[in-house]
Amino acid sequence: MIVCTTITELKAQLLKQRRSVPEGRIGLIPTMGFLHAGHASLMRRANEECEYTILSIFVNPLQFGPNEDFDRYPRDSERDIALAEANHIDVVFMPTVHEMYPKTPFTKVLVSTVTDRLCGASRPGHFDGVGTVVSKLFHLIMPDCAYFGMKDAQQVAVIKRMVDDLNFPVEIVPCETIREADGLAMSSRNVYLNEEQRNQAVVLSQTLLAADDWLKEPGITAAELASRINSKIREASLAEIDYAEVLEYPDLTLPEQGVDLSRHESTLIVALAVKFGQTRLIDNRLMVPF
Ligand code: PAJ
Repeated sequence: MIVCTTITELKAQLLKQRRSVPEGRIGLIPTMGFLHAGHASLMRRANEECEYTILSIFVNPLQFGPNEDFDRYPRDSERDIALAEANHIDVVFMPTVHEMYPKTPFTKVLVSTVTDRLCGASRPGHFDGVGTVVSKLFHLIMPDCAYFGMKDAQQVAVIKRMVDDLNFPVEIVPCETIREADGLAMSSRNVYLNEEQRNQAVVLSQTLLAADDWLKEPGITAAELASRINSKIREASLAEIDYAEVLEYPDLTLPEQGVDLSRHESTLIVALAVKFGQTRLIDNRLMVPF
């Protein structure tokens, strides 16, 4: 496995690979590091489907708001490199902020509409940062496939839309959310939780499971479902709801109000963002029609 910190080194590796295996599929797994089993599942999938795999590790300042956790975002590059190696990654691309943004970018990739709600609403500018950095990675690496976790379902919707709208020649591969034994979705930010917060954080996945059952009840409306979801999360005394919404997926629009959702014909998403102290956790569940 080769670790590249500069774009020049990365391009040299890619050229070597493209010359020696011209037909080989190149898979990219973009991450911000502090890797866990969720990231490892993307690496495994990429290795199954591609001849050559590149893991990027870059805590992208452009996608953090001024009062967010960019500075204290957990970092452990030695451990990350060991995990990448154990997962048979060919190249780790680990640039510095200066390498990625030598100049303050005047150009950004802004995906509208699908960013109006959920994290797009509660983290203004976040998805402009994600769209911009992922575009840069796609241009630098020109992967055949790029692997993203459905834990960040809105991110998948944004990137897919960007790729469709701008004709990026990349296949976006959504991968299932990997969870702890009690159901908590794995996240680099879980290390911020203290013991009591960690115990209560299971309310997110439990609420999503309950929502799945409620959605099967004939006559259930979006308003009723949202109200039950909100009450269930509030049972956790330390939980502070940022959002808890039921939307159509992948466009992330509101379902028609008052209709019986148990008979829905399009895919719905229940998406949650809940704060425990300073730590904001997200989770979601897709509800496909029967
Ligand atoms: P990061 O939070 O490090 O996540 C990297 C990838 O791992 C994302 O596609 C994310 O959805 C996926 N992932 C995280 N937790 C997961 C879990 N429990 N199960 C499955 N997949 C999981 O998302 C980002 O970084 C950044 O926004 C990035 C796309 C790298 C752009 O900076």
